[in-house]
Amino acid sequence: MDLNQSFVDVFGHRAEQAFFAPGRVNLIGEHVDYNGGHVFPCALSFGTRLLLAPNDQNLLRFRSLNVAAAVDLPLDRLTSPLAKGSWVNYPLGCIAQFVRRGYRLHGGYDLLFWGDVPAGAGLSSSAAIEVVTAFAFNHLLEAGCSRADLARIGQQSEHEFAGVSCGIMDQFASAFGRKDHAIYLDCTTLDFEYVPLQMDGVRLVVANTHSPHKLDSGAYNERVAQCREAVEQLRSSSPSLQNLAELDAQRFARIREAIKDPVALRRATHVVAECQRTVDAVRALKAGDLLRFGRLMNESHVSLRDDYEVTGPYLDAMAEEAWKVRGVIGSRMTGGGFGGCTVSLVREEAVPTFVERVGEAYSARTGIAPDFYVAEIGDGARILDI
Ligand code: GLA
Repeated sequence: MDLNQSFVDVFGHRAEQAFFAPGRVNLIGEHVDYNGGHVFPCALSFGTRLLLAPNDQNLLRFRSLNVAAAVDLPLDRLTSPLAKGSWVNYPLGCIAQFVRRGYRLHGGYDLLFWGDVPAGAGLSSSAAIEVVTAFAFNHLLEAGCSRADLARIGQQSEHEFAGVSCGIMDQFASAFGRKDHAIYLDCTTLDFEYVPLQMDGVRLVVANTHSPHKLDSGAYNERVAQCREAVEQLRSSSPSLQNLAELDAQRFARIREAIKDPVALRRATHVVAECQRTVDAVRALKAGDLLRFGRLMNESHVSLRDDYEVTGPYLDAMAEEAWKVRGVIGSRMTGGGFGGCTVSLVREEAVPTFVERVGEAYSARTGIAPDFYVAEIGDGARILDI
């Protein structure tokens, strides 16, 4: 795809700058970021590109090669969301954060987006749009934001302009990704460490369920609220508790009865166990114990299925079929859940069999043809040569 030519076709003049931010896949640590736990995502080699150039019309003109809807906005109309469902809310929400901080755009800009992260697949296509926009406007406005600031700007946009009370994981991974490394991130402090994915002879396979049911903001926000409710109820016995991630298994076992609501109790059970699993998994990876890492991935899926209830039949079918294949070290849902993707560690020689067997069995069970990608772990947000 010649994006420079597309820009000329769309706007009638050349782009002056280009930026990129990736999607992500999370290896383990699911639904723990907004509970202050550790996560372990990595940036993908695919993501969103943003090409831009000034215009003399005092408008921001938003165009996408993925979505037909075009939007032009005057410069005094950049701080409130458009109608729910408009794709422009993702970039606009980021630009709004700069405007609210007092930065002013002088003159308009033409903006062309193109992404190759499949939308709605749990691979953070929205975070890629947010982070590429935050990165680009930080550059244009010389705002001097750190990458962590850019991740927060993306998260804020998601909260205010997309209505999803998400954690920081997706935007952080998109901003900070590093080739062939995963990011071990403490979501309470934002301290992080790059961990090399030294997996000789093992590949990371992402399987897209193409499930008709997607994670909607309602189901996601409901989980966030249930976790807060669990903390609230636990405060009767532990008044200083801020986040579920502060609890280890022993302490949780001692105080869990304070959670009277059975649903909130199940949610908290997942979060406490998943926080520990993530710490254990990273330790296992560093020690070269890939089999243990894989077992923890499988346990993560089961916990997300039974206690957190965010998998659903499509992700369950994909994971179950993966578990049957020889050469699969671990397999689990990744991202928010319901629909979307699984991530599997698969021995290199077993990848063709994996794709064939899991693909056939999944299609037979669901009537849907899945997609498989052997993931390449790439770098985070950056400027592109034009
Ligand atoms: C979505 C959210 C993230 C995180 C995951 C689940 O991707 O955007 O913040 O909560 O779900 O781990």
